Amino acid sequence: MTTPKRYLVTSALPYANGLKHIGHLAGAYIPADIYVRYLKAQLRDVVFVCGSDEHGTAIPIQAMKEGTTAQAIIDKYHPIIEQNFKDLGIHFDIYHRTSSPLHHETAQEFFTVLNDNGDLEIKTSEQYFDEATQTFLADRFIKGTCPNCSYDNAFGDQCEKCGKSLSPDELINPVSTLSGNVPVKKETSHWYLPLNKHEDFLREWVLKEHKNDWRVNVVGQVKSWVDGGLQPRAVTRDLDWGIQVPVKNAVGKVLYVWFDAPIGYISATKQWALNHGKDWKPYWYENDTQLVHFIGKDNIVFHAIIFPVMLKLHGNILPANVPSNEFMNLEGDKMSTSRGWSIEMDDYINDWIKKENGGESMADVLRYYLTAIAPETKDSEFTWKGFQDACNSELVSVFGNYVNRTFVLMHKLCNGKVPPFHNDLIDDLDKQLIQDIGNTKLKVETLLEGYKFREAQFEVIDLARKANQYMQKKEPWILAKHLPESPSNQHLIDNALHLCLQLTANLAILINPFLPFTAKKMLHMMKVVEKLLEWQNAGRVDLLKVEYSLREPQLLFRKIEDEEIAHQLEKLTIKKVQVEENKSVEVEQESKNVLKPEIVFDDFGKIDLRIGTITAAEKVEKADKLLKLEVDLGFEKRTIVSGIAMHFKPEELVGQQVTVVCNLAPRKMRGIESNGMILLAEDKSGKLHFLHTNGMIDAGSTIS
Ligand code: MF3
Ligand code: ZN
Repeated sequence: MTTPKRYLVTSALPYANGLKHIGHLAGAYIPADIYVRYLKAQLRDVVFVCGSDEHGTAIPIQAMKEGTTAQAIIDKYHPIIEQNFKDLGIHFDIYHRTSSPLHHETAQEFFTVLNDNGDLEIKTSEQYFDEATQTFLADRFIKGTCPNCSYDNAFGDQCEKCGKSLSPDELINPVSTLSGNVPVKKETSHWYLPLNKHEDFLREWVLKEHKNDWRVNVVGQVKSWVDGGLQPRAVTRDLDWGIQVPVKNAVGKVLYVWFDAPIGYISATKQWALNHGKDWKPYWYENDTQLVHFIGKDNIVFHAIIFPVMLKLHGNILPANVPSNEFMNLEGDKMSTSRGWSIEMDDYINDWIKKENGGESMADVLRYYLTAIAPETKDSEFTWKGFQDACNSELVSVFGNYVNRTFVLMHKLCNGKVPPFHNDLIDDLDKQLIQDIGNTKLKVETLLEGYKFREAQFEVIDLARKANQYMQKKEPWILAKHLPESPSNQHLIDNALHLCLQLTANLAILINPFLPFTAKKMLHMMKVVEKLLEWQNAGRVDLLKVEYSLREPQLLFRKIEDEEIAHQLEKLTIKKVQVEENKSVEVEQESKNVLKPEIVFDDFGKIDLRIGTITAAEKVEKADKLLKLEVDLGFEKRTIVSGIAMHFKPEELVGQQVTVVCNLAPRKMRGIESNGMILLAEDKSGKLHFLHTNGMIDAGSTIS
């Protein structure tokens, strides 16, 4: 295979609708960053693009949750996510935005080309419509039960539980996310991409041409889609958030987010070229460009089927590979921000990187562990214990320890300078070590070019392991003890440490794609410039000049203590409970704008409402929102847990009279059984008010 002339590497554009977790990081960002750092060390021409995906229903839905606008949401999350990536050493050449005018133009031009060429079809169909809000319910604006796994909160585009792609028509018992209402059907017209016409192309291109060089999970998914028969896919939506369909009279129609977002890779490349005075076109039109999309498994259909069809129709090059990871679970359960079972990049950065001096090395520890357990062929699992072990027993004990020992001994036994190598004394151990260095270089590059990041990283650590064994066998500290009676030992010491130092320089080059902060630190210790990290230098054992004086060692990694791990585990459980509590509050709020469905008198009659007096109130530990109330109902006293701690101080409540739903089934919150519910009025701003009872009414009075 000839080396491509240039590379364009992309990582899936994250939705700017919230923080991203380490599962995302492991899937599409760390492997891409490793690949790019490696290519750049090879001095190849590479552009690495990413950015925020700012359209689709995910954004306005988050805006509703946060009580703000879609624009405010993307403006809030775009910079946070961008900074999070930086803090973890993910180095994009550009982090663009799909809300930018350049992207809007680029996506519209793309659509126009396809539409003008007759590659799209217009079809009219009946789609779900919410009469209360007068909106069509595309994608995440509609929820219902998943036909595949029966999860009852599946979205109209996908079930987050089982991962199946869905269309709103497949949902069982659909309801509007906007109002909670049952939707009606209404006619509407849209543009479709007739994927059915491209089945032969996909069979030929993916199932034959890339059968062996793409990952099995990717080829497998494409095969099952194509074998199942592809359907025309709508590429427009009735929404007011997105890119206008560039056709006259297409009012209220926008491009489907999955049509515009991947075009974001092109607009990002354009913006990068503008920033650097380069030409973007070769990256998207020349066959000697290697285009590689790094993604997570839920994005396969878009990057291996739909976008390639779009690219082909538009006249662009096709991806050379679409390395997709499977999922990374967390402590025995699926990772999910919305369910509160996740570790956000932002949290990791605050807890591990920002808190300590030299915390960047903790970014490398995360990079290391996520690569060591990368779900390249099957789902894998992040555990805090595994994280601790990987750090302590591999990074600290093997890699860090080796580098540290080498430097300490060199300062002690060789005056802090690179000792000479006495060729006449070379032995088999030395020869073996030199060979190991060369072999590792070759193995790592083959593995990286084959997108096998986990194994590649393993090889680097394995080289450090061999180096430790080498030093253990050479025992320069013992040789030093006998120097007085055997002065010629100094030459043996020199040779051992000379090679150990050359190997350290090699380790810096080899580890650099994986752990860039560590490589930087090693450069500093060796007093050499970044040029040393060029890949062509790997395998050489003359990288550090004899007599060159080196700095004192710095510890590359620190040990992670059991308490730190215990703390993280506890944090995880607390977060989950908090998210669940917030959810029940959200569900109540969602239904506020619209009248609930009609009830008959009997329905109302079932509710037992009474006046109660609050006699005591206190905060519930570890729950920001909850108060535990004692309420006197005249005939008995009740404990009621209420989510009003953000609104009232406990002492304000004592003596207040409230309306109480007395016959509500008991419910446990934070281990406390709540027997009933108090009623308050909530105004538009979300402020709560008591329903004033003109003077005192006897506790226990009924309301009907
Ligand atoms: N925002 C999508 C997600 O998080 C990924 C978009 S990738 C792109 O699943 F290709 F469309 F940009
Ligand atoms: Zn499902």
